[in-house]
Amino acid sequence: MKMWSGRFRQPLDPGFEKWQRSFPYDQRLLPFELAASRAHANALEHAGVLSSEELSEVVKALSEIGRRAESESEFLNDPEAEDVHHFVEKQLVLLIGATGYKLHTGRSRNEQIATDLRLFVRQSIDTLQGLIADWVEAILTRAEGAGSTGMPAYTHLQPAEPVLVAHWLLAYVEMFLRDAARLADCRKRANLCPLGSGAVAGATLTLNRQAMAQALGFDGPTANSIDATSDRDFALEFVNALSLFALHLSRWAEEMILFSTPAYGFVELPEAYSTGSSAMPQKKNPDLLELVRGKAARVMGCATTLQTLLKGLPLAYNKDLQETQEPMFDASDTVIGMLPLVTGFMNTVEFNEAKMNQAAQAGYMNAWAAAAYLVERGVPSRLAHEAIGKAVQLAVERGCELQKLPLADLQAIHASFDAAFPSCLGLTEVLGLHDVPGGTAPRHVKRALQNARERAGLLRSPEPLATR
Ligand code: ARG
Repeated sequence: MKMWSGRFRQPLDPGFEKWQRSFPYDQRLLPFELAASRAHANALEHAGVLSSEELSEVVKALSEIGRRAESESEFLNDPEAEDVHHFVEKQLVLLIGATGYKLHTGRSRNEQIATDLRLFVRQSIDTLQGLIADWVEAILTRAEGAGSTGMPAYTHLQPAEPVLVAHWLLAYVEMFLRDAARLADCRKRANLCPLGSGAVAGATLTLNRQAMAQALGFDGPTANSIDATSDRDFALEFVNALSLFALHLSRWAEEMILFSTPAYGFVELPEAYSTGSSAMPQKKNPDLLELVRGKAARVMGCATTLQTLLKGLPLAYNKDLQETQEPMFDASDTVIGMLPLVTGFMNTVEFNEAKMNQAAQAGYMNAWAAAAYLVERGVPSRLAHEAIGKAVQLAVERGCELQKLPLADLQAIHASFDAAFPSCLGLTEVLGLHDVPGGTAPRHVKRALQNARERAGLLRSPEPLATR
């Protein structure tokens, strides 16, 4: 029996019937649907709609449905179920007869789907936090392992200043810790319970909303039934957070691709995460990284779909909302699927430290340090900049680094140069010059590493999931 057939004289067009079903994809919400149904059944007993015997019958049958869904591969093969809500009702009636029809008393699928989707978002976020912790810790391990190795930092993709490899990797750690924080923030707003909101105006029975919320591990009930049944902000916030996360992964992937090319040679691609070319035998291609970059587009597309979908909807529930499900699942699956792979990549990728260190010391990236040297000797900054610019020009002409210029030539540019100049331009000295928190001086990087370790560890304190 359909959930709404009474008013209709004609059957649905078979093509339309099949086309409008969401069960093929919303069946993954079954554990949440069962948990929410259990909470509702308890509230019905409290309200006197179910006897305590009926309640235990319903609760037992709900567990049985969950058990069969897990153990019988054909169980979810139901071409008639319109959606996960209809499926559960059908199965309930098969198991316990007409009592099964009582479960829908005082509730609407509009509040049910809103509840299931919030539970889904909450669970995905909890999964993601653990995976982000693994990922960030993998980056941190490589950062710690890089020790005192330097590399060029770029602006405009031109070599700018040398930094510690650890400092470079910590930049990514910051991005991903922000992603984790955004997800945690999204979780807070998602973790409210729509049950009791009915179709739009609130339940027609005095259901204990506080108890239902509590049973499902929500922080409390939602405040307004119109909003609760039509709100998908939590989905959009979730997918927006994922799209920014995927964007960060894509930036990381792009840089790894660049650094693995022979022109840079900083990174040796791990064979376990690369592929060959069917045509060119010498090739080792960064397919994992390229797919990470590509999948970011997909996740960003999901966010765009959700925004576009929601922007014109009048209150409250509209069937368009069914279309929020797949982009949300897809974005979640895509990011959850990528994380163990990028973590594996990070654990095995080889850094060519000698080459990075060498690159950190070539190409006049110590020019700012050279200017600082003059400033320390009382030369006004703008004039020091000018003088070092001239010295760079001379060094370019001679094909040497700044510290190799003869003192006499330097003094012809500015009288303040002295014999100490070359000793101020080594990698260690240049790195040490950036002696501010957040800068690349080794003592600050060391502290930053410790601090990031602590923050990554905090991601491992998951909120308990209450979907039993
Ligand atoms: N499958 C529907 C969805 O995903 C469930 C809610 C249906 N509500 C309704 N009034 N038809 O949105």
